[in-house]
Amino acid sequence: MQRAFQSRKLASIELKNSFIKTATFEGMYDDGIPNQKLIDYHVSMAKGGVALTTVSYGAISPDARTFKTQMYIHDDSLEQLKILADSVHQVGGKVSIQLTHCGYFSKNTDQKRPLAPSRVFNEYGCMSGIFFSRAMTALDLEKVSEDFAKAAFDLKNIGFDAVELHMGHGYLLSQFLSPWTNRRKDEYGGSLENRARYPLEVFKKIKQKVGSDFPILVKLNLSDGFQGGFTLDECKYVAKELEDAGCAALVLSGGFTSKTPFYLMRGGIPLKGMIQNGTSLAEKFTMALFAPFIIKKYDFEPNFFLKQARIIRETVTMPLVYLGGVDSKKGIEEILDAGFEFISIGRALIHDPDFLLKLKDGSITKSGCTRCNQCIVEMDRGGVRCVI
Ligand SMILES: Cc1cc2nc3c(=O)[nH]c(=O)nc-3n(C[C@H](O)[C@H](O)[C@H](O)COP(=O)(O)O)c2cc1C
Repeated sequence: MQRAFQSRKLASIELKNSFIKTATFEGMYDDGIPNQKLIDYHVSMAKGGVALTTVSYGAISPDARTFKTQMYIHDDSLEQLKILADSVHQVGGKVSIQLTHCGYFSKNTDQKRPLAPSRVFNEYGCMSGIFFSRAMTALDLEKVSEDFAKAAFDLKNIGFDAVELHMGHGYLLSQFLSPWTNRRKDEYGGSLENRARYPLEVFKKIKQKVGSDFPILVKLNLSDGFQGGFTLDECKYVAKELEDAGCAALVLSGGFTSKTPFYLMRGGIPLKGMIQNGTSLAEKFTMALFAPFIIKKYDFEPNFFLKQARIIRETVTMPLVYLGGVDSKKGIEEILDAGFEFISIGRALIHDPDFLLKLKDGSITKSGCTRCNQCIVEMDRGGVRCVI
């Protein structure tokens, strides 16, 4: 266990141990501008002993937001994010941010036809009246990749130590990788090589803009978790390409938010709270009617992605971040034995930001998180928190 607390390099930066707080949407914004709660939240993670804390869902442009009041990277939010980065540094931590574009997962009513690789039905935003996506043109591809690069550059300039490019969970770059949503007939669709082309171009554009020393992590699906989606075999190819392109570390996850939202978390489905959080009566009603049949339940087990992640460990030599169901000393030992350099944690740290300090001093051996997943309901009720 002590080996997990030894310092190590992530590309050019030194991390004090192997632990990363993974991105879990905080919902701590006032009109899209990060508030003091968000700063305090990440400071508490750093004080609790994680080497690197990750701010979630940094939308790279107004259109990259899943809903209208979400944060996006621009001058006003950068001002607060700089205070956040400085505050985390003051308590000895390092900070990263997830760079994201939602693609067609949009309830942002400013955007009637959200961008996607192809024209597809928007099962995520249809209840907000946004029924179909618009296939991206060459100009869109150029503009979005530039937005990604500029956002990373601006964040580096205000003192962020790393960025995490979101290629998973069904968001835009994952929509390109997935044959389910990418039905393009040009060089960006069809074969795996073609589907991976745009996500890899975006990665390379960011790298060019921020310089080779600045760590860019990538969150990548092991698989989408349903027939007809991105597969583990395909993940091997993308992982190798990202290794060759100089990715600092791969954060391995899975699932597709509009189809298999609980594949990436496992455990309880807090249906009542999700329905209550619906933004209109129509949305609440439709959710109540259909959600119980549509949302699939996956039982929780510790280290639930380890079996799949081991296959990627055998495929690449680059640093890998294990994520998914880390909740005990025993589980951490198992991940280290399997050869992962970094360990990312979500719910055990939402439940208790001092989880690692307590593991380290031996006062606990296991998290008290029950995977009720009520924390996801709280994201939309003033900020993510554990209700236990
Ligand atoms: C409340 C909550 C919010 C989440 N928000 C995000 C997010 O914004 N971006 C993301 O990539 N993953 C998000 N996730 C998924 C987590 O990053 C992680 O993959 C998942 O919780 C499994 O890790 P764990 O078992 O350590 O919690 C979220 C998870 C939870 C519980």
